Amino acid sequence: MIHTEQQKALLDWWSVSHRNLPWRETRDPWAIMVSELMLQQTQVSRVIPKYMDFLEKFSTPQECSQASPALIIEAWEGLGYNRRALNLHRAASIIVENYHGVVPDSLDELLQLPGIGPYTARAILCFAYEKDIGVVDVNTKRVISRITGELLPPQELQRRADELVPQGKGWIWNQALMDLGSGICKARGVDCVNCPLKKFCLWGGEGIDPVEQRNKSKRPSMKFEGSDRQGRGRLINVLRKRLVSSSELEEIMGWKGDPERCERIVNGLIKDGLVECNVKKEYSLPS
Ligand code: ADE
Repeated sequence: MIHTEQQKALLDWWSVSHRNLPWRETRDPWAIMVSELMLQQTQVSRVIPKYMDFLEKFSTPQECSQASPALIIEAWEGLGYNRRALNLHRAASIIVENYHGVVPDSLDELLQLPGIGPYTARAILCFAYEKDIGVVDVNTKRVISRITGELLPPQELQRRADELVPQGKGWIWNQALMDLGSGICKARGVDCVNCPLKKFCLWGGEGIDPVEQRNKSKRPSMKFEGSDRQGRGRLINVLRKRLVSSSELEEIMGWKGDPERCERIVNGLIKDGLVECNVKKEYSLPS
């Protein structure tokens, strides 16, 4: 269990080792929400320029909700997982309609918004509203599991993460845990020698990694090459620039000779609201 001494060790380390990231310079809940949605499945270095550009174009939920979904999907280029863009647009509209344009500051209300799960909701509460709660993402989960020597089930992990937060320092604490997880207590190539929590860590880098225990039985990670996601991404990339006719789908999606697959994937995109089809069977981003 982490106590004052351990908390101080991590915060002291962070004061000299932190990353300067643009979303750490603001407490604007909209900016934090944008950053967290982008960071859900995309690495920090890719997110930084897109985050800056996005907020320049859509600096408030109002500005975002007034734009067409197509414009938001265009601004998402390079980030992948385009459903997040659509969810952000929908969430912005709900925020304008139901919350006078202000991102809500309660867990229950945040969880009602599309694209916002337990992690993102808590990240907004902590990084924008400075609430003292634990933010459990892959990095902080790995750090906590290794320190406590066991991979806890989600509810118990959240409870531990909440307990660890030093009072009044939730913002800095969670940023520090994230940086420790991404720079030192890494999934592969852990750097225990330079870890400020080494002497408090039950795992300590030797023997079975608590995070690996259950990971082994998990499904293998999906290959991008040849995947449905790759074909979807290719189509959306072209749709960012122009209309596409149905005869072009096989070529664009990279599945020549497999019209059924193209049709199935396009229908999925239409169902999700990411693509529209007109009477001439031409496809576009949603207007
Ligand atoms: N990933 C998600 N949120 C982050 C943050 N605030 N800092 C660094 N990486 C993050």
